[in-house]
Formats: sequence, structure tokens, C-alpha cells
Amino acid sequence: MIGIFDSGIGGLTVVREVMEKLPQYRIVYFGDTARTPYGTKSQKTIVEYAIEDTEFLLSQGAKIIIVACNSASSAAFGALKERFAIPIFEVIRPGVEKTLQLTRKQRVGVIGTRATIGSGIYERLLKEARAGLQVFSQACPLLVPLVEEGWLKRPETKRIVRKYLFTLKMKQVDTLVLGCTHYPLLKPIIKAKMGRRVEVIDSSQEVALWVKGYLEKNPEIGGSLTPAGKENGHRFFVSDLTPNFEHIASQFLGRPIRLELA
Ligand code: DGL
Repeated sequence: MIGIFDSGIGGLTVVREVMEKLPQYRIVYFGDTARTPYGTKSQKTIVEYAIEDTEFLLSQGAKIIIVACNSASSAAFGALKERFAIPIFEVIRPGVEKTLQLTRKQRVGVIGTRATIGSGIYERLLKEARAGLQVFSQACPLLVPLVEEGWLKRPETKRIVRKYLFTLKMKQVDTLVLGCTHYPLLKPIIKAKMGRRVEVIDSSQEVALWVKGYLEKNPEIGGSLTPAGKENGHRFFVSDLTPNFEHIASQFLGRPIRLELA
């Protein structure tokens, strides 16, 4: 099985892409809804949580792991790679690679949680790969709760998005990285605010393409994964379950979903 985890339900945007690009494999998902958000927590705490999340997915039969959370990717990827001897993917490097391909003016904007932006990881990786590239970052702590409330098209959300994006627009970035797996749900209003000329990078899509490429190059790993059955057999676990989660989770996934308490 492909194991995918996030601090909550944002990682379902990654699940949606993996289902589309790798429909032949079964997925087990874990959303740490009892402890979300991770983006406001310390690195030490995020590392502890990410290790527990990974252990849970392994206990469910996962053979590869996708960290579908930028906050956990930036804080805990190194610790996870050190601890677990299985293929582990994160959402930051795939987005960085795509950004380097698409930026023309070498002016890049990055939005994410406080943990992700505070870690400086996007800026570091982008600048390491291309000296001279300019990176402008903006933490957007209000967006995760708005998305989790399902306020995807409300005027309040549009106003907050406009405020967060204002500086990046003024800096005339030509590429904007959605550095949080919740943000693809706000892509229509983010795109509208940034304008047609700005490329918006969705790391959910990019990580799914990376995993696909990896499994094509490593067929023995693909062979060790459980194939999706007729009823696909995906399982979606959360650490806390309320009726509202199931409703919002279905919005993230774009189809009805049944959540199970881990
Ligand atoms: N989905 C998480 C991310 O990509 C954000 C939610 C959180 O702060 O836990 O960073």
C-alpha cells in the first residue's frame, strides 16, 4: 500500500492526485485530526508526530510513505529518512523542481504555514539550485482554518487571500508555490488574485508525478504494493472523527469518503 499522511485532511489533495496518476495501487491515509495543525508547532513536536504517523501507516501495511504536509516535510523529512528504511517522499522538492522549470523572470513567491515559511526551506532549496533567483515568502496562517471550515469561495476568504498575496504581487513574482497541501482548494481564488501571467505550482500534483516516476524506475517496489481492487480498497484513518470531517474530507477528495478512527 501507499501510505500518505498529513496533519489533518489537507493531504487528501495529494491522495486525489495519487489516485488519478497511480490508480493501480491501494492507498492507506492517516490524517492527524486530533493534533492538527502542525504548522504552528515546534520542530521537535512535528518530528515526534511525523514518526508516530509513519509508524501507524507501516502497521497498516504501507510500503512507501508520502508526507503530504509541507510543515511535516520541512520539519521531519530528514528524521524520517534516518529512522525508516523504506522509500519516503515529501512535497517540497517536487514543487521546487517544477518552479525552477517554469520561472522566467526568476522571481518566485512562496506561501505556506508559519512552520514551513519559518523553516526557510523553499528559499534555501530554490537558491541552492539557482543562485540569483529571488524568493519572496509569505506565511498565511489563516488559510488552513478557512479551508477546513469549507469557506472556499466566501468573500471573507477572498479578502484574506488578497491581503496575503498583495506583497507578492507588488514584488512581481512570475511563479507562486502553494507550499501547503490545503491551498489547492483555494487555487481558483489564488489564481484570480495573482492574474493569468503567474504560474501557480501545486505540490500535490508534483509529488504524485515524482512517485509515479519512481515506481516506473523501480518496478520491484511497485510489485510489492497492494493493487487496488475493484472497490479500490483505499482506507482513510483519522485520529479524531466528527461528522463535519467526513463532509469536508469529501470536498478535498472530490468524492464521498468514509473515515475510520485510528
Ligand atoms: N497541510 C499542512 C501543510 O501542508 C498544513 C496544515 C497544518 O498546519 O498542519 O503544511
